[in-house]
Amino acid sequence: ILVVVIPILVAAIVIIMRNAIPLFRVMQVKLDKLNLILDEGLSGVRVIRAFDRMRYEERRFDEANLDLTNVAIRVNRIIAWLMPIMMLVLNVSSVAILWFGAIRINNDQMQVGALIAFLQYAMQILFGLLMVSMLFIMLPRAAASADRINEVLAMEPEIEDAEQVKQADEMKGYVEFQDVTFSYPGAEEPALNNISFSARPGEVTAIIGGTGAGKSTLVSLIPRFYDIDSGHILVDGVDVREMAQKDLRAKIGFVPQKAVLFSGTIAENIRYGKEDASDEEVQHAAEVAQATEFISEMKDGYDSVIAQGGTNVSGGQKQRLSIARALVRKPEIYVFDDTFSALDFKTDAMLRGALKKETLDATVLIVAQRVSTVMDADQIIVLDEGRIAGIGTHRALMRSSEVYREIVTSQLSMEEIAEEIA
Ligand SMILES: Nc1ncnc2c1ncn2[C@@H]1O[C@H](COP(=O)(O)OP(=O)(O)OP(=O)(O)O)[C@@H](O)[C@H]1O
Ligand SMILES: [Mg+2]
Repeated sequence: ILVVVIPILVAAIVIIMRNAIPLFRVMQVKLDKLNLILDEGLSGVRVIRAFDRMRYEERRFDEANLDLTNVAIRVNRIIAWLMPIMMLVLNVSSVAILWFGAIRINNDQMQVGALIAFLQYAMQILFGLLMVSMLFIMLPRAAASADRINEVLAMEPEIEDAEQVKQADEMKGYVEFQDVTFSYPGAEEPALNNISFSARPGEVTAIIGGTGAGKSTLVSLIPRFYDIDSGHILVDGVDVREMAQKDLRAKIGFVPQKAVLFSGTIAENIRYGKEDASDEEVQHAAEVAQATEFISEMKDGYDSVIAQGGTNVSGGQKQRLSIARALVRKPEIYVFDDTFSALDFKTDAMLRGALKKETLDATVLIVAQRVSTVMDADQIIVLDEGRIAGIGTHRALMRSSEVYREIVTSQLSMEEIAEEIA
């Protein structure tokens, strides 16, 4: 009897699992989608309200939710078959044992005790199988989840240190681009084409250009956030691909276009640039970044807590704190990606004045939209659709570069330009 029963049981489990496993996988994907919508809804709640899209978001959530529910119901329908089938098999087999046993007892081939004992053992074995098949129900879910976890764990970082890393000993603060072309993964056209320039210590190099010209892309190549398609980027005479990432990034104070703060106190956020910075260093950096005023107005000064995502400080305050974070590091190379745009003109001017003293010997790269920010730079790089449209000082570019003249005339009044030239 067991010989007949066990294959039936196993076959039932296999058939059910075959159908259930793919569905479990689908279910996991739908769950993902639902979480995504939920996350977007929570973090974008103000935008949703401002644009009065509550209904739309509700519908989107409902759709995803319904989708998940349907799949879950289908899976559970299939799984639900398992229990009755197993119970049926269990009971049919006990009936069969009694039936055939009774015939044998009738023929005096068997004792009643032996039959009962046999029944007990058979039930125990079948119950054991039942338990195993219960475990099998858990398995597909775990398998689907494990697959997705492994996907993440198996991801290799694309940027890796070269096997032989080089040190840059002699030079400090030299950045050189040699015919650099770069495209984002999957993009059709390169974001940057044939970029060549060099920046030296003690100089300010400004990068100006319309939105989407490739300014942020250009500066993000210096700390090697991406690897380039062709050309070379040298920092202190060494190709960034041959330098250890740790050494390379230790040279750079990077202020991103979108300021990011971490939950913690203000002092902790500034110390992010240099872990062992003293209180004086932190305060000095805050002073240069013109942040002392609003910090002292906060309840606990430097110990005031920044909320998750920095939601309790204004955009400009966030930017100034992220400038202070770069300053406290005292790097060889400063990169400011459109950092001054959220500041009013007066703060902008004061900050740049204070910065100048602080960064006398350093190499400074400033990305900017405002002509007034870049006018007194030692060299200005005009970017246009990923290409260099001109390089030089403000005066030289006013004469030689059509694109630069356009940018200037769109921003400054005629008198200001006349004053400049005179
Ligand atoms: N992560 C990315 N993946 C794919 N393409 C990108 C990515 N970031 C930027 N791009 C593309 O590269 C081009 C240059 O973008 P970039 O951010 O460098 O412009 P930008 O000059 O800094 O502009 P803005 O002044 O608005 O900050 C754009 O056309 C953009 O679509
Ligand atoms: Mg940018």
